Amino acid sequence: MPLEGFGVFQVPDPAVCEQAVLDAIATGYRLIDTAAAYMNEEAVGKAIAKCGVPREELFITTKLWVQDASYEGAKKAIETSLRKLGLTYIDLYLIHQPMGDYIGAYRAMEEACKEGKLKAIGVCNFYPNRLADLCETVDVMPAVNQVELHPFFQQESALALMKEYGVVPEAWGPFAEGNHGIFTHPVLTAIGQKYGKTAAQVALRWNVQRGVVVIPKSVHKERMEQNMDIWNFQLTDEDMAEIAKLDIGHSEIVDHSAPGFVKMLHGMKIHD
Ligand SMILES: NC(=O)c1ccc[n+]([C@@H]2O[C@H](COP(=O)([O-])OP(=O)(O)OC[C@H]3O[C@@H](n4cnc5c(N)ncnc54)[C@H](OP(=O)(O)O)[C@@H]3O)[C@@H](O)[C@H]2O)c1
Repeated sequence: MPLEGFGVFQVPDPAVCEQAVLDAIATGYRLIDTAAAYMNEEAVGKAIAKCGVPREELFITTKLWVQDASYEGAKKAIETSLRKLGLTYIDLYLIHQPMGDYIGAYRAMEEACKEGKLKAIGVCNFYPNRLADLCETVDVMPAVNQVELHPFFQQESALALMKEYGVVPEAWGPFAEGNHGIFTHPVLTAIGQKYGKTAAQVALRWNVQRGVVVIPKSVHKERMEQNMDIWNFQLTDEDMAEIAKLDIGHSEIVDHSAPGFVKMLHGMKIHD
């Protein structure tokens, strides 16, 4: 699995999404992260078909939506994603939310893995007690848990649990989706200045240095290039310690523990 990838959340326009994925692949990204709920799997598939990079060099992730979180639902959803992406296999298939009958869905995913339709399976947004529940229940450990991870929400204890179960952490919202003034944050900016890097690059580098896969999103090619240019410098222990102090210990984007949020996601239908 590449340590850095490209996310396409909130890129609903098919033409914009297709071009963004083509630009990202041309920039050097090989991991593309989409989801059934992003409503852009077809556009991602078109870019994959056109990009000129052999399929086996790409690493395609998509996700099962809450509406399909059941054994039968997941069986169908996997086929739908394969069709929309125009692929014969998906490199990494994730349960998008720890909601609905996710154990039933996971069983279907284990079977699809054996059939070669999915190369690896995992989850998103599984906070520690959900992750422990899943890992204690299933046969195949989730390969990945994709959760919100950035300098303002660092989740060290969640990372420790993932390590215990051998689950790779992957950061969604590695820029906190632009919140908290991340791109001009004084601490990140000052650290970056030492290396000729931006606050954005420092935020990504900090995550990869602590073993977290990052999937930044941008529809701007120069930002895609900037976000990929993080492999030629190293943050010191002192830099890492400075960034550790920025943690506010909670998300400012979503509250997975709020019943209203869970209800809202259950109500979000992506097909009939
Ligand atoms: N599993 C889940 O529940 C979940 C949830 C959220 C996201 N994700 C995945 O994680 C990916 C990344 O997260 P995200 O898209 O939510 O947020 P993000 O990557 O933290 O932030 C994206 C925002 O940052 C801007 N940006 C990107 N690079 C920049 C740079 N170098 N300088 C200044 N601004 C920059 C982008 O603007 P422009 O596009 O205008 O450049 C966009 O507004 C998603 O695309 C998706 O694949 C998964």
